[in-house]
Amino acid sequence: MKRITKAVFPAAGMGTRFLPATKANPKEMLPIVDKPLIQYAAEEAVAAGITDLIFIIGRTKRAIADHFDKAYELEVELETKGKLKALEDLRGMLPVNVNYIYIRQAEALGLGHAVLCAQPAVNDEPFAVLLADDLIEGEPGVTKQMCDLYNYYQCSLVGVQNVAPDETSAYGIVAAEPMAERLSRITQIVEKPAPEAAPSTLGVVGRYVLTPRIFHHLRHIERGAGGELQLTDAIAALLKEQQVLAYEFTGKRYDCGSKLGYLEATVEYALKHPEVSDEFQAYLEKRFCVPCRSA
Ligand code: UTP
Repeated sequence: MKRITKAVFPAAGMGTRFLPATKANPKEMLPIVDKPLIQYAAEEAVAAGITDLIFIIGRTKRAIADHFDKAYELEVELETKGKLKALEDLRGMLPVNVNYIYIRQAEALGLGHAVLCAQPAVNDEPFAVLLADDLIEGEPGVTKQMCDLYNYYQCSLVGVQNVAPDETSAYGIVAAEPMAERLSRITQIVEKPAPEAAPSTLGVVGRYVLTPRIFHHLRHIERGAGGELQLTDAIAALLKEQQVLAYEFTGKRYDCGSKLGYLEATVEYALKHPEVSDEFQAYLEKRFCVPCRSA
């Protein structure tokens, strides 16, 4: 039985909804309080037992590699200035015993193309995909939940959640037959359908576990919604020959690819942050004259 040890982090999108912040920096480097989105995703993967982190990087290619690199000069500087807590935090930030692999997607042709770029590093193994702009608080993390399910069912899985009926055109939407608690067998998957054409309101969010057969389909799909090579279309083709399950994960998702979701995540994480939570809560209560407690 193959276990999942590799995760792909597509981070080569244009991030147009966050311009100008994403002009010279990938969206995945936007911080929630003090940690970039990509690091939350990397930690979630490592907590699931992933050992090979494969980043698909684009135009703003250096930022993510620099973030996960050892920063010798910065460490010396912090040591010299006696900022030992900051030094300790910096050194502890990188998960140990994992491999960091960077692959360049030369042109932002779509999520499907980004995942296809990972094939040389994934080879013939099942793998996880995490879209870091979907920040998901879960215990255990959603990637662990899905890797455990893969170990049992040995098939591809996509993370889903119910979305508002008027929001289907922002998601991949699945039709699925219930199979077990939180699990259903996908019978159809469509990218960004209009509400009247959507087969359900189960929307795909940025967590997948895929069998390597997906690469075959990714090589053969044509441009789909938005003129992009869509992962959804390759999953639709995969469905015809392998079982693919929809998993309604447990956890709270923040769509940090949108400004509103990003702001919600920032407020919620700040209310739980050991350094600022009390003062931030006091600020919110004073500012809005209502008691604020993190959930
Ligand atoms: P999005 O659909 O959110 O697109 O990509 P985007 O370009 O990042 O952002 P907007 O819509 O213009 O604001 C979903 C995920 O797929 C990655 C993105 O980095 C994000 O993690 N992606 C998308 C790629 O890696 N390459 C692509 O060609 C497209």
